[in-house]
Amino acid sequence: MKLFIDTANVEEIRAAAACGIVSGVTTNPSLIAKEGRKLEDVIHEIVSLVDGPISAEVTEGDAETMIAQGRDLAKIHKNIVIKLPMTWEGIKACKTLVKEGIKTNVTLCFSVDQALLAMEAGATFVSPFMGRLDDAGMETEELIRNIAKVKAIYGYKTEIIAASIRNLKHIESAALAGSDIATIPYKVMMKMIEHPLTDAGLKIFANAAKSK
Ligand code: G3P
Repeated sequence: MKLFIDTANVEEIRAAAACGIVSGVTTNPSLIAKEGRKLEDVIHEIVSLVDGPISAEVTEGDAETMIAQGRDLAKIHKNIVIKLPMTWEGIKACKTLVKEGIKTNVTLCFSVDQALLAMEAGATFVSPFMGRLDDAGMETEELIRNIAKVKAIYGYKTEIIAASIRNLKHIESAALAGSDIATIPYKVMMKMIEHPLTDAGLKIFANAAKSK
C-alpha cells in the first residue's frame, strides 16, 4: 500500500519525504486554512518536495466553476490532482477533467455507491473517509474492502485512497482491506515505526555492542 501524507504543512512534508516512504500528498481546504496561506502558493512549494500525485481541492460548487478552477490548478505542475467533492457537480467536473487528461480525486466518499460513481466517471483516485465514518459509529474496514472488491470485479483503474486517517488501526484496516493508498497525517505516520519491543531490542543490542 502506498503512503501519502495528508497535510498542507511544508515542514511536515519535507520531514516525511526525507524518510523515503512518501509517494504523494493530499491537501484540503481545512488543511490549507490551517497554514494561513494561499492554495496556489502551498501547492507550488509541495511539488518541489514530493515527486508524486499532489491533491489540490476545488472550492466552488458548480461543475463549470470547478472545471475552470481545476484547469488552472493543473497548469501548476504535471503531478497536480484535482480533488473534487462527491456531488453530481463534482462527478460532472470529474468526467470533463478526465477527458482532458487531468488527474482527479473524488473526495468525501462514504459508501460503495459513491465510490462506484467516481470509478465510473474515470476518477484517478477516490477517497473514502475512515475517521469520519468511525465518528459516526460506522464500519470502516468493510467499506474499503467492498470498494476494493467492486474495483477488482469490474477492472476499474481508479486507485482507492483511505483518507481521514486518525490512528494506526485505520492504517492497518486500510492495508488489510486492500486499499491502494493511505493518506496519513504527519503525527500518525511518525507513530507507524514505534513499538516498545523495538525500543527494548535496540537497548539490548546497544548494550551487547558496548560489552565487547
Ligand atoms: O484527506 C481528507 C482528510 O484530511 C480528512 O480528515 O480528520 O478532517 O476527517 P479529517
